[in-house]
Amino acid sequence: MMPPSRLAGTLIPAMAFLSCLRPESWEPCVEVVPNSTYQCVDLNLYKIPDNIPSSTKNLDLSFNPLKRLGSHSFSNFTELKVLDLSRCEIHMIEDDAYQGLNHLSTLVLTGNPIQSLASGAFSGLSSLQRLVVVEINLASLENFPIGHLKTLKELNVAHNLIHSFKLPKYFSNLPILEHLDLSKNRIQNIYHKDLKVLHEMPLLNLSLDLSLNPIDFIQPGAFKEIKLHALTLRSNFNSTNVMKICIQGLAGLEVHRLVLGEFKNERKVEDFEKSSLEGLCNLIIKEFRLAFLDTSQDNIIDLFNCLANVSAISLVSLNFDRLEGIPKNFRWESLELVNCQLKKFPTLEHISLKRFIFTANKGGDTFAELHLPNLEILDLSRNGLSFKGCCSYADLKTAKLKHLDLSFNGIISMSSNFLGLEQLEYLDFRHSTLKQSSDFPVFLSLNNLIYLDISYTHTRVVFHGIFDGLFNLQILKMAGNSFQDNFLPNIFTKLTNLTFLDLSECLLEQVSQGAFDSLPRLQILNMSHNNLLSLDIRPYKHLYSLQVLDCSFNRIVASNVQEPQHLPRSLALLNLTENNIACACEHQSFLQWVKDQRQLLVEVEQMVCLTPLDMKDMPVLAFRNATCHMSKTIISVSVLSVLVVSVVVALVYKFYFHLMLLAGCKKYGRGESIYDAFVIYSSQDEDWVRNELVKNLEEGVPPFHLCLHYRDFIPGVAIAANIIQEGFHKSRKVIVVVSQHFIQSRWCIFEYEIAQTWQFLSSRSGIIFIVLQKVEKSLLRQQVELYRLLSRNTYLEWEDNVLWRPIFWRRLRKALLDGKARSPEGKVDSENSQYEATTST
Ligand SMILES: *[C@@H]1O[C@H](CO)[C@@H](O)[C@H](O)[C@H]1NC(C)=O
Ligand SMILES: *[C@@H]1O[C@H](CO)[C@@H](O)[C@H](O)[C@H]1NC(C)=O
Ligand SMILES: *[C@@H]1O[C@H](CO)[C@@H](O)[C@H](O)[C@H]1NC(C)=O
Ligand SMILES: *[C@@H]1O[C@H](CO)[C@@H](O)[C@H](O)[C@H]1NC(C)=O
Ligand SMILES: *[C@@H]1O[C@H](CO)[C@@H](O)[C@H](O)[C@H]1NC(C)=O
Ligand SMILES: *[C@@H]1O[C@H](CO)[C@@H](O)[C@H](O)[C@H]1NC(C)=O
Ligand SMILES: *[C@@H]1O[C@H](CO)[C@@H](O)[C@H](O)[C@H]1NC(C)=O
Ligand SMILES: *[C@@H]1O[C@H](CO)[C@@H](O)[C@H](O)[C@H]1NC(C)=O
Ligand SMILES: *[C@@H]1O[C@H](CO)[C@@H](O)[C@H](O)[C@H]1NC(C)=O
Repeated sequence: MMPPSRLAGTLIPAMAFLSCLRPESWEPCVEVVPNSTYQCVDLNLYKIPDNIPSSTKNLDLSFNPLKRLGSHSFSNFTELKVLDLSRCEIHMIEDDAYQGLNHLSTLVLTGNPIQSLASGAFSGLSSLQRLVVVEINLASLENFPIGHLKTLKELNVAHNLIHSFKLPKYFSNLPILEHLDLSKNRIQNIYHKDLKVLHEMPLLNLSLDLSLNPIDFIQPGAFKEIKLHALTLRSNFNSTNVMKICIQGLAGLEVHRLVLGEFKNERKVEDFEKSSLEGLCNLIIKEFRLAFLDTSQDNIIDLFNCLANVSAISLVSLNFDRLEGIPKNFRWESLELVNCQLKKFPTLEHISLKRFIFTANKGGDTFAELHLPNLEILDLSRNGLSFKGCCSYADLKTAKLKHLDLSFNGIISMSSNFLGLEQLEYLDFRHSTLKQSSDFPVFLSLNNLIYLDISYTHTRVVFHGIFDGLFNLQILKMAGNSFQDNFLPNIFTKLTNLTFLDLSECLLEQVSQGAFDSLPRLQILNMSHNNLLSLDIRPYKHLYSLQVLDCSFNRIVASNVQEPQHLPRSLALLNLTENNIACACEHQSFLQWVKDQRQLLVEVEQMVCLTPLDMKDMPVLAFRNATCHMSKTIISVSVLSVLVVSVVVALVYKFYFHLMLLAGCKKYGRGESIYDAFVIYSSQDEDWVRNELVKNLEEGVPPFHLCLHYRDFIPGVAIAANIIQEGFHKSRKVIVVVSQHFIQSRWCIFEYEIAQTWQFLSSRSGIIFIVLQKVEKSLLRQQVELYRLLSRNTYLEWEDNVLWRPIFWRRLRKALLDGKARSPEGKVDSENSQYEATTST
């Protein structure tokens, strides 16, 4: 045994430690709307944290151990409108706990084990409309201190321990009370005196829920002359007989809506039969609803003999075999059958019925004829029904139908184009399988249709006139269908009033340029989940009212149009997320556009690149066009240099000799000429050159020194080099002997071209032409340059004529003398030439 002192010594620090474990939580409340809405759920708080601003309007403090609400607990939060204190372990609420909350409209106190509730607990709540005090151990309404809450509209005291239905006197102070929820209490008996306050001060629009109270007895006449908006009695009676008697006790009640039945997991009434509802003949009811009952009726219609004057009937989750033969005197306008189990589709024939809702029922696979001439709304959705023919007056026998919902059914064969159903405004086929819907203009007569949904109907659009006739249509949903060749053709030309178009999941690869040209009012266009490869703006440019364009979940790589700015001006949202954006330089103008249009694009920060590999999964916004400029420059520079180099090479190749000439000019310069003239001639004319030219010029007075290749060229050196180095560089003038042979010889022409360059480079007028024979003009013309020169310049013409010769030689000598330096160079020249002549001969 441990001595007490030692025990205390270990326990006290341990307790201190444990108490430290439960300090005020430092985890902050969730700020849903700054300065206005805060959620502090389950934060181990024992008071309101200091960091909640006093301007807060909505405060959720549920699941915190507040334990006790002292007076003025919330006086620092005078703006509060909604205060949730569910399951805060509150056992005591003192006077004036909510004092100061003059704007509070909703107070939730669910799940607090309140033991002590001061009489002034709710004082000050001058605007409270909704008080939820579910599961607070309330045993009676009698002393509940809410008599002053004049603004109260809803009082929820469900799930408490209340035995008595007696509505206390203070209810007469709650003039606008509309909802009183007393469900799941312990009320067994209802007496006339309990409703005294309602007899004295009627609450005309009160909805009363008494479900899940074990009611055995309702005093007949208790509800006499009482008017209620709604009365709900579900799972109240533990036998058919009790139910029958209690319903009879309701006699005299006038209620807009009566709900009877049970809950899915709370079923006690068995053998529900015709007489069970007999008592309803003494009530005035507008709408009647029956839920979760197992009826043993063959034809359920027999139950409703006392409900002939009801305008709306709703049957939810019932089992029955048949529903047919609605008596003629029934004034039902609306009939709703939801989630019922029946043997076959009800064949209805009734004149007053305007609304027939038959959804999510089982059994009855095939639609049978209806005979409802005043029907306006028909909802047959979610039944797995199949329709052998659809749709025309012949099938429904009503010409007033405005709303037809056949969604989530089986196969529907479109056999007629709604003949006689011209009033239709709303038509829904989604997730049913339509047959033959694209063979002819099915909707041709639906000129009043505003809403059409054929999404996921396995429709393959082949016929372009499919939507003809729908010129009032505003909403068209056709997601999950397909088109021929996955190409969207011009099928909307008649739909000028369209504002919403859903083409998602249609396997579209291409869109016709004019597909949307006639839709000036379209506001929302959904192209998501298709296979579009590029953002082609052109089809959208006439959508003058377009606000939202959803192109997400496609395979868009980029925009193929240079200027995506041609999007409609009205566009506010463009969704390009989940595409295959290529962040490559070739698309840089598109990528720049993406950056510029941040406001327009949805979740632009989350858009990622797919290609190229090094950009994969990077944000599109991270693309930098600078890298493109760089590589562009590099590419252009290298292309340019390759070009320059090749041009240079080509030029060098072509003008190699000319360049040699140039180099020579530099080297030799002026005044170093050894020869008076370099003679260019064809070898065929060599005789003339030797016998006439050389003789006359070199042996005449003064003697000229000619450069002749047969004599003066240095052996062993390339001819071309000789021509340039010996011929041109060392000669003052060039004599060109033009003849037929000359023109025909490529070698001569080459020599001549070099001669021209030489003349240009040495800037001398040094070429002397001698035309040996009359050259044929046509031949000469082939050598354009030569021809031009000959026709522009004077040239010497050789004629074998004794009279002419002296003139010829004189002119030639004169031409050769032109520019020749006088003596002493002349001497040198002549000496040289002498020397040359002797050596060479
Ligand atoms: C919240 O209130 C504080 C003080 O009243 C004020 O300074 C602040 O601007 C408010 N914040 C917002 C988002 O209204
Ligand atoms: C109200 O606020 C004042 C000053 O901010 C503070 O001293 C006081 O404790 C608060 N009252 C309550 C009940 O929180
Ligand atoms: C009566 O209350 C219901 C809701 O319970 C409401 O829809 C209806 O408008 C109210 N009628 C009047 C006349 O206030
Ligand atoms: C019906 O309720 C009464 C009292 O609430 C009870 O005594 C009786 O056993 C119940 N009957 C059935 C069939 O549950
Ligand atoms: C329905 O109303 C008619 C006339 O208003 C009345 O004669 C008939 O008894 C009523 N039927 C029922 C079942 O309340
Ligand atoms: C289209 O809508 C406008 C306004 O909503 C309406 O006035 C017009 O009648 C509709 N039909 C056609 C064919 O324009
Ligand atoms: C377009 O359709 C897809 C599904 O098919 C949907 O998720 C998306 O929200 C739609 N977009 C718009 C703008 O309605
Ligand atoms: C594309 O963005 C729009 C606007 O935010 C949104 O309504 C739509 O749901 C988005 N599309 C998809 C497929 O999520
Ligand atoms: C490249 O980016 C700069 C700035 O981000 C921008 O001004 C320029 O227009 C862009 N160039 C191209 C070709 O998109």
